Amino acid sequence: MKPEVILGLHGFSADSRRQMHDAGVCLMVDGEVVAAIDEERLSRAKRDGNFPFRSLEAAMEMAGIGSEEIDTVAFVDRLPLWQTWFVWRYAMEAAIMTGVRPWGYLGFWTKMMRERRRVPPVGVSTKDIRYLEHHRCHAATAYYPSPWDKATVVTLDGMGDFSIGGSVSRGGAGKLDLLRRSNGYFSPGHFYMIVTEYLGFVPGRHEGKVTGLAAHGDPGRAYAQMERIIGYRKGKLDFVAGPVAEEFFNVIRGRPGTRTRQWYSQDQWDSAKARIDAGYVPDDAVGLDYFRRAWAGYSREDIAAAAQKRFEDVISEYVADAVKQVGEKRLVLAGGCFANVRLNQRLAALPGVDGIYVHPNMSDGGLASGAALLAYHERRNRRGGAYLHNSWPHVYLGPSWNDAHCQSILEAKGIVWSSPPDLAAKAAAALADGKVIAWFQGRMEYGPRALGNRTLLAAATDPEMPARLNGRLKRSDFMPFAPIILDEHAAKWLVGWEPDHVASRFMTITYDVEPALSSKVPAVVHIDGTARPQVLRSDDHPCLHAVLSEYHRITGIPMVINTSFNMHEDPIVCSPEDAIDAVARGAADVLILGSLWVECGDVIKVMVPRDAAT
Ligand SMILES: [Fe+2]
Repeated sequence: MKPEVILGLHGFSADSRRQMHDAGVCLMVDGEVVAAIDEERLSRAKRDGNFPFRSLEAAMEMAGIGSEEIDTVAFVDRLPLWQTWFVWRYAMEAAIMTGVRPWGYLGFWTKMMRERRRVPPVGVSTKDIRYLEHHRCHAATAYYPSPWDKATVVTLDGMGDFSIGGSVSRGGAGKLDLLRRSNGYFSPGHFYMIVTEYLGFVPGRHEGKVTGLAAHGDPGRAYAQMERIIGYRKGKLDFVAGPVAEEFFNVIRGRPGTRTRQWYSQDQWDSAKARIDAGYVPDDAVGLDYFRRAWAGYSREDIAAAAQKRFEDVISEYVADAVKQVGEKRLVLAGGCFANVRLNQRLAALPGVDGIYVHPNMSDGGLASGAALLAYHERRNRRGGAYLHNSWPHVYLGPSWNDAHCQSILEAKGIVWSSPPDLAAKAAAALADGKVIAWFQGRMEYGPRALGNRTLLAAATDPEMPARLNGRLKRSDFMPFAPIILDEHAAKWLVGWEPDHVASRFMTITYDVEPALSSKVPAVVHIDGTARPQVLRSDDHPCLHAVLSEYHRITGIPMVINTSFNMHEDPIVCSPEDAIDAVARGAADVLILGSLWVECGDVIKVMVPRDAAT
């Protein structure tokens, strides 16, 4: 019988003024994900939201599937009619939180629906095209790849489907039963984006820097300011605007027939503004005028710390209610809010929670796989039959290149390489010698974390290493680097870690580092005593496990730094050419390409004069 092939697809047209972010593709054959990749890795444009033509081609090549074999195309995002009330109810609030104008939705939606036209030109002829809800796709990524059949499924992000900021579902027997959606205008995701922008970072991209900065501040000083922006509606599984936002809406609502600034005369607008104590102005910069005035007296660290605490507080209440109402103690999570690893540590410790899984590609980059998973399981559920929960063993779902191909690239560039028989031992010795290794092997990771196949490794024992690495990579992070640690030593170094902590395999949660040991690995412990580990089992990556074991034998330390293999603001490297380009710009001392060993000094000698000449 012909296998059932489903294409999950997330992305928007290149000609759209308001593009999506994190376009990507997932190919699934008979319920198994065989290829998944986000467009940024191929276009080399960070968080690229354009229609994922490159990813589609790459995924079909990886899977050995022709476009004519695709049975179903599952697009992410929809705007069902029932949902329009939700859109209009919160349309005004959209202006305050996002700068989106209400009528913008219509054009956006129409364009999105036209995206199906982009499928036939790449040869996909199926008539079975579906549009699936953004948060149901997130929920599918949280539930189906998780280790548990019964779970409380929570999704939270900025906003999806033009209106929804989160959802709570009950997962069981392969089905996702929705309990409640929350609004997208007062979402914790948008709140955190405002703070990110206020602090001078790029919202939607640099939220991790705010989390890092937060550990340097006092959460109490500006906390009352944060309470004025967002709150949680106890027992209701929804978020509310704090008094600042409410004050603004009351003024607007008191003027019938007026919806946004464009509909005001200047006098009306001026008087409306005067009635708002704080002088809030909703503009496309998500109300930064207000925040610049209201937060002027606080340090950046204190703002970040207070925002992180408020973010954790409201989401903790929401998740605690969700677990109580669903009645399942296993918690599975997806959506951009759960890229916040400190939040995840706190949620894992909530009373009533026994086990946490965060989808490794938790932001919108994971939605394509969510659409494929949802389309498959919805059809399967309609047909009935026994259900066997089948969690993802790994995220190595991207392209790979064999040694012969890598050799030919190196030779064409005139770069010297060797093929050491004892690769793991040689690499461990180099790490112990203080070298930085760029590790490129096998299929690229799906999601934002480098988990051993496109990774930079360096000694965690050297307190100067973070500064040296940041200098090499042209980064300026407040977060320390993350460690990769042998699983057999994790319980000794990470407080409370246990072998069934699946989130720690994908670097989606922080742990307190054992205080007596943290001074031995200063490069991977944050100022608050936490680390964000990848706990490595030998099944996950036998070669890297051997490197770490040998490194441990030499140094007595079972971990090294593991950071993503990319220069500042670039996406993680995908191809051998990307890897060579990054080391030519100084990313590492040694490059491992498959089983080949390359001294980066040789790459720089060959590549830099050539670049300088052009
Ligand atoms: Fe999302």
